[in-house]
Amino acid sequence: MLELPEGVVWLRRYLAIGEQQTLVARCRAIIDGPAGGYVPTVRGGGRMRVRMVCLGRHWNPLTYRYEDTRADHDGAPVPPLPEDLAALATRIAADAGFALHPGWKPDICLINWYGPEGRMGLHQDKDESPASLAAGLPVVSVSLGDTARFLFGGLRRRDPVEALLLESGDAFVFGGPARLRYHGVSRILPGTAPRELGIEGRFNLTFRQY
Ligand code: SIN
Ligand code: MN
Repeated sequence: MLELPEGVVWLRRYLAIGEQQTLVARCRAIIDGPAGGYVPTVRGGGRMRVRMVCLGRHWNPLTYRYEDTRADHDGAPVPPLPEDLAALATRIAADAGFALHPGWKPDICLINWYGPEGRMGLHQDKDESPASLAAGLPVVSVSLGDTARFLFGGLRRRDPVEALLLESGDAFVFGGPARLRYHGVSRILPGTAPRELGIEGRFNLTFRQY
């Protein structure tokens, strides 16, 4: 069995298929809706390989800062993070044993859509507030649709990485001493989404507290 580092909890098949269907419909409506998903261009000019939309606060891929409007794209105000989605993240964090953080209330959710060519380079999630990072408040990740080959490394970019297959319905939580570990998605495994979801591709939601 795979040994996960301290601060990491992987809840496999956490969401029942009915809950996954509801979430997929929500994600689709948000990403295809007004002020919906777009393919960000990052600092240096590269285009990301995902379609992204942020709720609660907008993560600006040019400045690596959170903002109230999408200054790098269309200037639209950031949609709020719906209460039920925040509640889902809180439930996952509690089930993952992060009840030691009673002050934790997620106020940001990034939704990423990965098509068959989707991927995300190795990075740290370190743009939240210094207090949030210092407290090790967890990132809660939810996967829906096609399986992802998720890379999870150490605190330095050059540290060795473990490849984990995140499947539809999995929740993956990293906080405490693992909060700043490098991670990314090397590829999507097309055609692996549960048939009931009727999607070709993958949604990933990551919740954090600013
Ligand atoms: C992210 O690190 O922002 C996304 C990770 C994932 O898609 O599983
Ligand atoms: Mn990340």
